Amino acid sequence: TSASIPTAYAADGDRAAFPLHRPRRLRRTPALRRLAAETTVRPSNLVQPLFVREGLSEPRPIASMPGVLQHTRDSLRKAAAEAVAAGVGGLMVFGIPEAKDALGTGASDPDGIAQQALRDVVAEVGDETVVISDINLDEYTTHGHVGVLGPDGDVDNDASLERFAEVAVVQADAGAHIVAPSGMMDGQVRHIRAALDRAGHHSVAILGYSAKYASSFYGPFRDAVESSLTGDRKSYQQHPANLRESLREVALDVSEGADMVMVKPASHYLDIVRMLADSVDVPVSAYQVSGEYSMIEAAAAKGWIDRDNAVAESLTCLYRAGATVLITYWATEFATKLAR
Ligand code: PBG
Repeated sequence: TSASIPTAYAADGDRAAFPLHRPRRLRRTPALRRLAAETTVRPSNLVQPLFVREGLSEPRPIASMPGVLQHTRDSLRKAAAEAVAAGVGGLMVFGIPEAKDALGTGASDPDGIAQQALRDVVAEVGDETVVISDINLDEYTTHGHVGVLGPDGDVDNDASLERFAEVAVVQADAGAHIVAPSGMMDGQVRHIRAALDRAGHHSVAILGYSAKYASSFYGPFRDAVESSLTGDRKSYQQHPANLRESLREVALDVSEGADMVMVKPASHYLDIVRMLADSVDVPVSAYQVSGEYSMIEAAAAKGWIDRDNAVAESLTCLYRAGATVLITYWATEFATKLAR
């Protein structure tokens, strides 16, 4: 390696020699830096999450996510078309219902907001991009948890699996190309795979939110989807202290039929991304979550960091760490920049 190579000319006892190795040569101009770049994010690596709110007449800003909107069905179609025109590789659709209940009924209603929006988006851009849906009840439940609650007030794993299976089928019926179970219930991928296959959706792929941590960085998302959650998700999402546990979660998901896996959040979990990229044979995605987005936006708004460079750096580093699919609220914007 470079470390074992002599570092200077040392002819005839000349101790004040010139450096033999000058890594700076390849950093001197933008053209040299581009040529020598080891990784480059392409627009097709990016997935744009989009929010659609039932019963809205105008798109509505999300206070804690400046620049991100709750869409109407109409403005969602336009945002989807814009993303695809920028070359974005995929779209992830989150529905926000007008009414909630304990079972999250709206999540599995064929005419629920997410299903209507999926049909809209698939009709608009379905041939040109990948449409992904999130399997979870949390936007639809009065308690804000991902599944149904048991008598002890904790989420009932196996009862929730039944609900996830119903949600998966209506989303696939609505045209989702990939369904993404995000509830962290044990056995969810196998259950969903079986339900999709029984319904004839053999070709609908599963993106497992496999290494999903109980993170503070989801805060703004809960605002975005008007979550009713009061407690936390620590009894089902992973403890941030754990690394090896992600190997187990991912191995289980892949053995249950996950076609792709995810690490979430992203920036503070690059060790997990690298570990999984080195150890699994399915694509690894990373979800740069709402809090990661809002922290950069907030610091930039104060003039404390250079926004555009921080966005580019955060995404490049995720890709470098081994994620080939980057889920980010800046997808359309960054794809537009990459194309220039
Ligand atoms: C579940 C879901 C969440 C996010 C994506 N899918 C919320 C949660 O798990 O609490 C968070 C994404 C983000 O923070 O940007 N519906």
